[in-house]
Amino acid sequence: MQGCKLIPATAAAAAASSAAVTSSLTSNHVVAGGRAPQRLQESGSQQQQLLKVGLPMMASDSAKVFSANSARLQAMNRPCSSTQKKSSRQLVAVRATQIDTFIKGLQEKLHLPTHESESSEYVSVNGTLTVRKKSLLTYMDVGSDLIDDTEDALFDQKVLLQLVSSDVLDPRTNIGKVSKECQVVNWNMVQETVKSGDVKYPVTLMVPKDFGTPGALIVRNLHQHEFFLKSLSLTLPADVDGKKKEVFFPCNSWVYNANKYNCDRIFFSNQVYLPDQTPPGLVQLRETEMINLRGYGLGERKVWDRIYDYAVYNDLGNPTNPADKRPNLGGKDLPYPRRCRTGRKSYDADPSMEVRVSENFYIPRDEIFDGQKQSDFLSDQLTSAAHNLIPAIEGLLTGGKNEFNTFKDVRNLYQDGIDIGETLQTVVDTKDQSQKMDPFEIVKKLGADDRSNVLKYTIPQVIQFNEQGWLDDEEFGRQRLAGINPMHIELLTSFPVVSKLDDPEERFGDPTSAITHKHIEPYLDGMTVEQALEAKKLYILDYHDLYLPYVKQINELKSFDSQTYASRSIFFLDKNNVLKPCAIELATEDPTPRGKRVFTPPKNNQRDWMWDLAKAHARTNDSGFHQLYSHWTRTHAVMEPFIIATNRQLSVLHPIHLLLVPHFKNTMNINAAARKALISVNGVIEKTFTPGKFSMEISSKIYGALWHFDDQGLPNDLLKRGMAVEDATSESGVKLNFEDYPYAQDGLDLWCAFKSWVTDYVNIYYADDKIVQQDIELQQWWSEIRTKGHGDKKDAPGWPSLTSKASLVETLTTILWIPSAHHAAVNFGQYAYTGYMPNQPAVMRRPVPEVNSKEYSQLLASPEKFFLQSHGKPSQATIVMTVVEILSKHAQEEEYIGQRLVEGWTNNNEVLAAFQKYGEKLQTAAVAMKERNENPALPNRRGPAKLPYTLLYPKSEKHGLTGMGVPNSISI
Ligand SMILES: [Fe+2]
Repeated sequence: MQGCKLIPATAAAAAASSAAVTSSLTSNHVVAGGRAPQRLQESGSQQQQLLKVGLPMMASDSAKVFSANSARLQAMNRPCSSTQKKSSRQLVAVRATQIDTFIKGLQEKLHLPTHESESSEYVSVNGTLTVRKKSLLTYMDVGSDLIDDTEDALFDQKVLLQLVSSDVLDPRTNIGKVSKECQVVNWNMVQETVKSGDVKYPVTLMVPKDFGTPGALIVRNLHQHEFFLKSLSLTLPADVDGKKKEVFFPCNSWVYNANKYNCDRIFFSNQVYLPDQTPPGLVQLRETEMINLRGYGLGERKVWDRIYDYAVYNDLGNPTNPADKRPNLGGKDLPYPRRCRTGRKSYDADPSMEVRVSENFYIPRDEIFDGQKQSDFLSDQLTSAAHNLIPAIEGLLTGGKNEFNTFKDVRNLYQDGIDIGETLQTVVDTKDQSQKMDPFEIVKKLGADDRSNVLKYTIPQVIQFNEQGWLDDEEFGRQRLAGINPMHIELLTSFPVVSKLDDPEERFGDPTSAITHKHIEPYLDGMTVEQALEAKKLYILDYHDLYLPYVKQINELKSFDSQTYASRSIFFLDKNNVLKPCAIELATEDPTPRGKRVFTPPKNNQRDWMWDLAKAHARTNDSGFHQLYSHWTRTHAVMEPFIIATNRQLSVLHPIHLLLVPHFKNTMNINAAARKALISVNGVIEKTFTPGKFSMEISSKIYGALWHFDDQGLPNDLLKRGMAVEDATSESGVKLNFEDYPYAQDGLDLWCAFKSWVTDYVNIYYADDKIVQQDIELQQWWSEIRTKGHGDKKDAPGWPSLTSKASLVETLTTILWIPSAHHAAVNFGQYAYTGYMPNQPAVMRRPVPEVNSKEYSQLLASPEKFFLQSHGKPSQATIVMTVVEILSKHAQEEEYIGQRLVEGWTNNNEVLAAFQKYGEKLQTAAVAMKERNENPALPNRRGPAKLPYTLLYPKSEKHGLTGMGVPNSISI
């Protein structure tokens, strides 16, 4: 489509186009170029004047205009200086006025009268507008179409379209020439179209002969109701070469009544440009659209808004009840990524905190997932489960009599299930049912049979193939390499281990670990500790410093029955590359030697329940770290600033926006649902994870201590943890210490595929490093991510400068990696591994008994009972199972890596070829992963649990609970 000009070859062609318009008119599908509103008409003298102008602005002129405008607009958005801070609110208001004036100016320009010309000076362009009606998406609003049609007839309300030339300027407006308005009529669709899902309207637009290439589409919805605009495809009249050209506008956006917006909705074709290559007709539209998306940082957001702005996490607690107050996350003491600003009111009791409300939290309208029927939306299942099902489970299972006494009791959750119907009905009857989903639908979806009132869970994969395998020490080690948190294990480089905690008050005693040579050398296959260190045979799972400052507070919590430690687990890599635990240290805040207890594996094959309890506490530390950091913070939370900044600073016309956008789909939606039901006060996390009310605060501390952008890509992450060394001869640039590290091995294959795709893509749009440096939008985007979205870490190391193509490729590959492969690795195996509570317990309620104590006698007398009652209650286990089963599912409309479900997402054949190559690399990687899972020389692929590592298979063949498949984005 590049370079195509809309100039009919002959008068006959123009006449034919006119005939096509007439035909459309008589078919009563569309009134094209019909009666234009009075204000859109223009005089003959204006027309004559405009006919003299037809020379498109040169690219260099366009660049100058772009740069000048950008500088002006950036000044409007610039932060206040320190001397201005006292009146920052007034300054924001001034900027808001400036921006309003700018946008209104453009809106007026868009509606300057078009030319009243002879019909021969216009040509018709035919196309198809594809719309999804609200009624089709929700099955709840079928009346809206009828109302809109009636109003069409009675009040002349309608949907109006206008095209804007990309390359032929209107000198009065300094934007591209515009077509006459085209009215879409016959809004009510025929039944056949309803069944197909999309409604297609033939449209014909009248454009001046010297219009050039259509680059933008203006849409005004004068109907009462919103609709989802999917696309506009245009067929241009034949060019001088006799060929007809296509122009495609992938819109994919909700369009509300025009009065909801301060400027008509603008959409662009699928031709992207670096900022200074923007065709002159689109320069102002490009900027205006971004300004609209940024907003002013003022006011409460409405459902139809499209504004992306930042806020701290100040809506997790409720200061009106002291027990429900939670600290705000985001700032110097509790650093955190920013989330989407909603502008909700503050509490009188604490103006720094935003009021929690029962309705869904604001996110930009197009970030809300729409697709199948409501009960298929996983985020709705999640909120409805939190609102109804979990209270019902608590009501049914809370009480002293409800305990797991044997492993068979746990198994019964999968075999017999829990009859929850009556209790659930009581909850439903007593609650305000504001959410859309019927909670009994979730019970059916979780149930393994058709007894709709029985919660009966699927058997988790970790006990599906070998019921006892999870207890094996080798499986404990294997899950650090191939479980759901395989990104915290690290090489041990010195011994003994020494805490790095800053401890001026000496709360924590001797910083040196209590694990000595004597503890671990019996497990090193005859090696000394020093020899094992030298041979890179010792590894550590270290949660000591992250948990210890909170252990006392957690254990003293009156409101939550939880007992924990800060753990360290040391592993030995044997000659078969099996990671065997050789010591676990469990620490409390007690500064005396009693505060550090060391446990070692039994030296015979006898069961040692004390060792099993120590492993359970270490697993619980891992479980909390997995959910709070590896999963929530390191994927969900850290991605939101990237999404916000991309929409604020990279135009949809920018090639990098186009590259990244599939990796952002649905993330703000699920994050808002999480703030509502999972991570907030009395949410699922607080109720079921060991840190209780401190959970989110701890996640902030870990983000502050550990998160650096450059470590988020897999190769650097492996290097940082000592699991690999640099290797210039390998495609990934690293070599693993030992190959049989399933997460890393499969992950590096995906990383290489991502990097190859990103490299090809960047090469298409950036000829050299200088162009990267001069890309105004790109530089502003990157600066905003660092200084605003992740502003609490802006001075931390690890932020690359985008000054070269190489740094851009590495940065973009990392951004692709986080929501796809990293998230898949920590998310879609949650039910497989934590659905069986003892394998990865979220909470422990009893400390490991001291030898010869009363509790120790109880353990010896009834070990299975004591062991299980040290874990969470059945109500807690069941809540976790319910939530992680929903979290582990793939949606019906999942888009996997290597896929793009948006029709016509690019018109660039080079990009399409590179994308195909990317898909082939992913396919090759998938084959290699499957082969590795069948290779008996790689024991960590399956381990004692006989559970193959499938979490990074690029695709899942079906939706639901499959334990495989890497979606492009975080949507659950
Ligand atoms: Fe997730």
